[in-house]
Amino acid sequence: MKILVIGGAGYIGSHVCREFLDQGHQVTVLDNLSSGLEENLFPEETFIKGDIMDAPALERVMAQGFDALIHLAAFKAAGESMLKPEKYSVNNISGTINILNGACAAGIKYVVFSSSAATYGEPKYLPIDENHPTEPENYYGFTKLEIERFLKWYDKLKGIKFAALRYFNAAGYDVKGRITGLERNPANLLPVVMEAAAGMRSEVQVFGNDYDTIDGTGVRDYIHVNDLAVGHVAAMDYLVKHNQSLTVNLGSESGLSVLQIIDAARKITGRPIPAKIVGRRPGDPAKLTASAQLAKELLGWTARYSDVDTLVRTSWEVYRKKAGL
Ligand code: WQD
Repeated sequence: MKILVIGGAGYIGSHVCREFLDQGHQVTVLDNLSSGLEENLFPEETFIKGDIMDAPALERVMAQGFDALIHLAAFKAAGESMLKPEKYSVNNISGTINILNGACAAGIKYVVFSSSAATYGEPKYLPIDENHPTEPENYYGFTKLEIERFLKWYDKLKGIKFAALRYFNAAGYDVKGRITGLERNPANLLPVVMEAAAGMRSEVQVFGNDYDTIDGTGVRDYIHVNDLAVGHVAAMDYLVKHNQSLTVNLGSESGLSVLQIIDAARKITGRPIPAKIVGRRPGDPAKLTASAQLAKELLGWTARYSDVDTLVRTSWEVYRKKAGL
């Protein structure tokens, strides 16, 4: 298939593109490089520098003719979204409306959308399945949930079939070492720990150790980006085969605490990784773990690379080399 990957130069987007290329698809990447990196692009793919806020340009690109598109272009910092909601409204929501309207004009039938566990908000029960209430605690999660609502209407009124993939905590790097771009100014735990291991930052601040969890620190469901990428291919195959939209979690179904991640990183990197316990980060739930039973049932998908050693080892391979260690 001819696939347009919007945000395909990003951390997750580049892993998704690699998997579609490996499966024999033709990939075109549209990215404004605001956080994506040219070093994440592959020679086999076509790259178009562009912004989802430029609706006419977006329509011209889509008119080139694509069988499907994958939308991973969004701002994703939950904390920032509470300080600058207008930025998230414009880019995440208006930008997606431009994409959907462009897809209608170009006759693109299938859309795979990068959604988020942030749509659920504070867990009412664990593991979280797709029937869990969706009451986002931050504006970032709200934008993702709103986009899912738009997708349902575009399915009903325009026949666009979508797969909304609710990622839990994406982490790790390509197990074959083909992707090496470092996120700029990361806020997520694993890149922060890697930066501390590589001496790119002085310490890891642990946001609270008084939660009701195994060691008092936050527990999350970390999903390896290769697993996420495989999930995108499986979702696209499902859309084409069944012509039916779906919304599924992509998670490992296992939880790891902040201190467990740091301990594993110290063992694997052999680096001290200084850590300091500080106050809780507002909006952080104690524990978030996914049920991925629906993805297993509908897509035949389960996580294969999301064990803590693979998550940390594949990340360290990239950070170690960048730091010349
Ligand atoms: C994980 C755990 C923190 C950093 C993210 C983002 C967003 C969204 C969902 C996709 C928590 C702790 C973190 C640090 C820490 N992604 N932590 N020190 O908050 O679960 O959500 O994933 O949709 O990317 O909202 O991820 O990596 O920020 O935090 O102690 O310097 O690590 O408190 O327990 P989070 P995270």
